[in-house]
Amino acid sequence: MEFRKKLIAGNWKMNGVGDALEEVAKLSAAHPDPTCEILICPPATLLALMSALPVGRTIATGGQDCHREQAGAHTGDISAEMLADAGARFVILGHSERRANHGETDDDVHAKARTAIAAGLKVVICVGETLAEREAGNTLEIIAGQLAGSVPDLVTGANLVVAYEPVWAIGTGKVASLEQIGEVHNFIRLNLEKHLGAGVGRSTRILYGGSVKAGNAADIFGVSNVDGALVGGASLKAADFSPIITALEAAN
Ligand code: PGA
Repeated sequence: MEFRKKLIAGNWKMNGVGDALEEVAKLSAAHPDPTCEILICPPATLLALMSALPVGRTIATGGQDCHREQAGAHTGDISAEMLADAGARFVILGHSERRANHGETDDDVHAKARTAIAAGLKVVICVGETLAEREAGNTLEIIAGQLAGSVPDLVTGANLVVAYEPVWAIGTGKVASLEQIGEVHNFIRLNLEKHLGAGVGRSTRILYGGSVKAGNAADIFGVSNVDGALVGGASLKAADFSPIITALEAAN
């Protein structure tokens, strides 16, 4: 089986000004030699500053979104090349808050992913069902549709990460059950293998996201095909994020 290095990603969303960089220094001091990959996606205003911290060997940075075009007249937007130039190595794409609040479609995410990969970034493509979709029994169909529409076929196992984030579990304190997580992660693995080939499918990391905390992380990381997590609220403070990293390092 292909080796998949575990990945723990913090999504700071629209939180954090200059003094938040201290949290990154604390995190780095707590994990000087991590056995998993650590990624923080701060607001764009902090990206260059965070990337310039002397922690780059252990903590990678990423953007939270980029534009589908390479450059041009798009006031207020940020390009993949700008993220890379500011030191980012990853970009989150198609987060449900972008899909819901900015009307992002699978086609947008697909185009953004192509542009981001061309700029040398790794993409963290988010998929996930709403509560209504789950209750209607459509979860796997929704995930399959989002994967088919959002993931370009030029990806490799090295530049694609998929994050399964049930919309109803994000920022709500409601976590998907281990059975629900296992079912969807196994489904995503098989889907990637089928559509992108066994090599890409087996080497792509699949993260769970949605109310991951120190108290539930170890159980989630024990589920098959969970290669790490995308963490929102609990990634803002080193004291909250650090035990989640430790749990991932301890997982088999
Ligand atoms: P949460 O957010 O951990 O605060 O639920 C996760 C996410 O949106 O990536």
